[in-house]
Amino acid sequence: MKNSLIITFAILLFSSCFLTKTIAQKKEGLKDALKPDFFIGTALSVNQVAGKDPRALAVVRKHFDAIVPENCMKSMFLQPEQGHFFFDDADRFVAFGERNHLWMTGHCLVWHSQTPAWLFVDKNGKDVSRDTLIARMRNHIMTVVGRYKGRIKGWDVVNEAFNDDGTYRKSKWYEIIGEDFIPLAFKFAHEADPNAQLYYNDYGLANAAKRNAVVKLVQSLKAQGLRIDAVGEQGHNGMNYPDLRELEKSIEAFAATGVKVMITELDLTVLPTPTHTETADVSTNFEYQKSLNPYPDGLPEAIDSAWTQRYLEMFKIFLRHKDVISRVTLWGISDADTWRNDWPIKGRTDYPLLFDRQYNAKPVVAEIIKAANEMNKKNGKNKS
Ligand code: XIL
Repeated sequence: MKNSLIITFAILLFSSCFLTKTIAQKKEGLKDALKPDFFIGTALSVNQVAGKDPRALAVVRKHFDAIVPENCMKSMFLQPEQGHFFFDDADRFVAFGERNHLWMTGHCLVWHSQTPAWLFVDKNGKDVSRDTLIARMRNHIMTVVGRYKGRIKGWDVVNEAFNDDGTYRKSKWYEIIGEDFIPLAFKFAHEADPNAQLYYNDYGLANAAKRNAVVKLVQSLKAQGLRIDAVGEQGHNGMNYPDLRELEKSIEAFAATGVKVMITELDLTVLPTPTHTETADVSTNFEYQKSLNPYPDGLPEAIDSAWTQRYLEMFKIFLRHKDVISRVTLWGISDADTWRNDWPIKGRTDYPLLFDRQYNAKPVVAEIIKAANEMNKKNGKNKS
């Protein structure tokens, strides 16, 4: 009798401990597990910032401690006409971030894409002079960075300045100003907010030629006495690219120049492309074909589990390099709102993010939390 009472008591005690632990794990968000390591962020759309997607915002509050605007801080939206700035959405984004104590990055000041039509030309549609474009760049940067001084903590100053072979992209910035457009942009951004962190951001940086060009750029900016805090690796990845060893090498190569590394736009597509392409250039697009949209009703189990494995592998790399990685940001919250459903082919069903179309955490979220907890038990680190 006495023995069976003791056994019942022990079972009760054990199951209540187990239950408390399970509930605690369920409650733990990504940001709690990754707190000692790096910021974990997400990109917010205009609708989300306007509060039209409450389920998405609940996910942000639980899982993320950093945000970046997916579109509303690009120059075509901020300065659609010369001298006429539109700040409503960007202001809402910053207010949301402040209310929720989120680390905010601005994206992006100088880019060849999503620019307003007037930016590079005069009234007759001819390219403006070098001096005029520099003055326009300075005014845009001073106005935008100045407005959010002290509130936006870091800026993607220049986005996507290199081709895959490491040569300069022949953008209007490059054609009109020359290579100098990059140091000038960093100089102006620093002038506008001396305390803001400044980043160079690009895709395809696991590729050695492009990686080396960016290493050289960082060294040259530093040699000119300019501030650069981190290289942002976008991370629009696929199931067979990039080679994860090369990704790891790129993290090491950037860190060796003395800057931090950020993964800034992470997503992992399972969809095929018509030709082999590792680009994330937003102007790339292919025509829709049914065969290129193979999973409209859900992912087959084998693909789903390969996807989970690859995500986890990427996060394990990030965790291994937590001393130099200061932020990992997903390019969106759920599969319902990822740009991948429409790029590089419109109207497909993709599954690249950590939360499904009903905003439920995918199994990989628990796996990442587990991996972080295990690693942090072994060796802690405070994020910088
Ligand atoms: C994308 C947005 O997600 C889309 O909504 C928009 O239509 C095009 O731009 N690299 C970048 C991001 O730096 O700004 C891009 O965002 C994706 C590729």
